[in-house]
Amino acid sequence: MLQTRTRRRAWIAGLATVVMAGAGFALSTQFANAQQSTLRSGADALGIDIGVAVNDSLLQNDSTYRNTIATQFNSVTAENGMKMEAVQPSQGSFNFSQGDRLIAFAQENDMSVHGHTLVWHNQSPGWVQNLSGEALRQAMEDHITTTMNHWEGDVATWDVVNEVVGDSNGQLRDSFWLRGLGEGYIQQAFEYARAADPSADLYMNDYSIDGINAKSDTYYQMAQDLVSQNLLDGMGFQAHLILGQVPGNMEQNLQRFADLGLKVRITELDVRIQMPASQQELEQQAEDFRRVVDICTNIADCSGVTVWGLRDGDSWVPDVFEGYGAPLLYNDDYTTKPAYDAVLEVLGGTPPDDDTTPPDDTTPPPTGDGDCTAVIDVVNDWGSGWQGNVLITAGDSAVSGWTLNWTWPSGQSISSSWNADISSSGSSVTASDVGWNANIAAGQTMNAWGFVGSGASASPQVTCTAG
Ligand code: G3I
Repeated sequence: MLQTRTRRRAWIAGLATVVMAGAGFALSTQFANAQQSTLRSGADALGIDIGVAVNDSLLQNDSTYRNTIATQFNSVTAENGMKMEAVQPSQGSFNFSQGDRLIAFAQENDMSVHGHTLVWHNQSPGWVQNLSGEALRQAMEDHITTTMNHWEGDVATWDVVNEVVGDSNGQLRDSFWLRGLGEGYIQQAFEYARAADPSADLYMNDYSIDGINAKSDTYYQMAQDLVSQNLLDGMGFQAHLILGQVPGNMEQNLQRFADLGLKVRITELDVRIQMPASQQELEQQAEDFRRVVDICTNIADCSGVTVWGLRDGDSWVPDVFEGYGAPLLYNDDYTTKPAYDAVLEVLGGTPPDDDTTPPDDTTPPPTGDGDCTAVIDVVNDWGSGWQGNVLITAGDSAVSGWTLNWTWPSGQSISSSWNADISSSGSSVTASDVGWNANIAAGQTMNAWGFVGSGASASPQVTCTAG
């Protein structure tokens, strides 16, 4: 197995003396001196991956894009270039050019490569979607075997199957793979992958499994089964998140998979904001990124965090979620956002003096335990349930911790929540901060946490106690 952590530590030791050329990029002694101020150096010191999804066209054509990635990240994932439609556009005709380019870039800059993905219902070519039975099984085996053989030793970890569980009830996704091959296709895919490159770590990967829910429960059962057959090495949590909605039990969720002996990895992190994004929302986004990366650093077997794109304008989000955007660490002009500083800090670095992020010195450090008020904002109601976001406002002095109490008027209850510790007794609810969202500056309002409620949506009066 490729020992990326060991390899990376060796890289740090040799950094000052090594000049790497390639794709027009050279590591300078200036970078060596400034290494504590990059995401990469922080992650290297912690022995984890900080990764980014890479757009092949930008990699070829934009030297600032390349240099920023090589400087700030120690791991890359092809955003699209290793998917089946790119690699095998017609049956038996393989095109490895995008992946080869990414691997060359990664090797020139001593980065690891996370392979994404072998078996997925999206971005699969038409020809394979029209197969079934033995022809489809053979096609799956051929694709996995040929692709993994080609990149054996170059790709350390693979998303063998991607998004194979659907979005309701934790059932397997109704895809052409499932319809054509039956439920056994997932295990078969892992068997072919294990045989093709025994040195690669094999992962399942999906979205909306960051917290404990029916979908992640299904993966947990599948993981137990695959681990017992030595077919699975890791679990990928995509973490395509909405502002302020890091699941409250995300760490607990990742830990239960790690407790199976698996590596866990945050594979596609982004935090989308309803546009236009205010400065306060960008600060909240920074806290969301900080929390997610912190979760990874808290778990011994978390192999790393990958963000799904470099700059906001590179992201898939606005194309799919109308009105949402700004989900990443960089602005389009390559200046960094508050979220970048938060990730840097949690990786142990400090933002450089000449940081191009707009100054954030208008908020005094929270010191006091003043008054606070809170309201439940019903942001969505779909009949059988609803979503409440809880906004907390500090009074004349800063708040450095908060506890909320209220009583439901007509039998409501909370079915899941994020970013607060909750306890309920009958219709009474108590919610308190989870540490990182304890501090609210005087006069400021924080979109502090949220929940999914059952029963009729309601906004009862909330008592907020600071401290
Ligand atoms: O390749 C064609 C190109 O020929 C054409 O000119 C162009 C015109 O729009 O489209 C190109 O295809 C696009 C493709 O990305 C490659 O750039 C598709 O339109 C576009 O829909 C596709 O989007 C990708 C999406 O997966 C597809 O499902 C995103 O870039 C990519 O970020 C996204 O990534 C997925 C992960 O793989 C799995 N998890 C969810 C994540 C976000 O959807």
